[in-house]
Amino acid sequence: MPMQAIKRIAILTSGGDAPGMNAAVRAATRAALARGWEMHGVRNGYAGLITDAIEPLHARDVGGIIQRGGTVLGSARSAEFATDAGRSQALANLQRRGIDALIVIGGNGSQTGAGVLNNAGFAVVGVASTVDNDLVGSDVTIGVDTAVNITVEAIDRLRTTGSSHKRAFLVETMGRNCGYIALMAGIAGGAEVIAIPECEVEPQEVAERLRAAYQRGKTHALVVVAEGARHGAQAIVRHVAEHRAEVGFGLRVTTLGHVVRGGAPTAGDRILATRLGSAAVDQLARGASGASAGVLVGVRGGEIITTPLADVAGKTKGVNQELLELARVLAQ
Ligand code: F6P
Repeated sequence: MPMQAIKRIAILTSGGDAPGMNAAVRAATRAALARGWEMHGVRNGYAGLITDAIEPLHARDVGGIIQRGGTVLGSARSAEFATDAGRSQALANLQRRGIDALIVIGGNGSQTGAGVLNNAGFAVVGVASTVDNDLVGSDVTIGVDTAVNITVEAIDRLRTTGSSHKRAFLVETMGRNCGYIALMAGIAGGAEVIAIPECEVEPQEVAERLRAAYQRGKTHALVVVAEGARHGAQAIVRHVAEHRAEVGFGLRVTTLGHVVRGGAPTAGDRILATRLGSAAVDQLARGASGASAGVLVGVRGGEIITTPLADVAGKTKGVNQELLELARVLAQ
């Protein structure tokens, strides 16, 4: 469908919030206003698109948010948007308001929804954002740098108290289908064991590595587990407790959960999000025929790239094999 000259666009944040989303909203809004377009913010992701919770965003509305965690627009996981009625209502609201294009900031589920709107003929550009870093179409996604740094800080803190009491700690971090946070934080934190969906570690193997560390005279040990690992925290803790006499270390659990999504974004996430938010507007501006839409903006080798939404939806990006091997070697 030929795209008329853009005059008015909208933006929403969807799915799990990610530190840096506000920087992306700010950059996209200012880039759009700089082109003489109107920008409208959608509240609470696709749910707000359905309920028509849409309001103009002016330059001052996005002032002072680059450093703030979470999303000032709000986010939600909308079951109603999975229905034809919900999607039709969302499209009707966009069209009634004369909105020419939509920017969707989010992860897998959010970009699947973006693809559905685009397949219905609406111009949509996605921005890669999820702490999991499991999106095809970008080396790294908004929120990852912050999540990894929060996890590393937790590991470093547990190291000190572990040394005081000759204890081992298991840190469980986010990562439903992808162990990127656990892998990178485990490497950076010098963990003895890293268990992720892409590289499972049996509880017996964890116990053996802890026993070996204890026998080598280590004063503490760290096990980092992604929440999506098949052998999770509880199974590992139970097995180590049953073999406490042989293992030597007691093993305590710290579950970080949503802590890794909270708080202020790192400089790295602010810069990535600013680049991607601005790039999404640039991508829409290229759209003489509307063909410029229907893509996810991400980074590859430090450069901005675009990937068709059809190639992103429903896929999960795995972790880098070289880093996986590195983690294995370092854990010996
Ligand atoms: O997809 C990002 C993520 O943080 C996952 O790592 C986590 O399992 C999930 O979202 C939690 O979802 P919610 O915030 O809806 O509980």
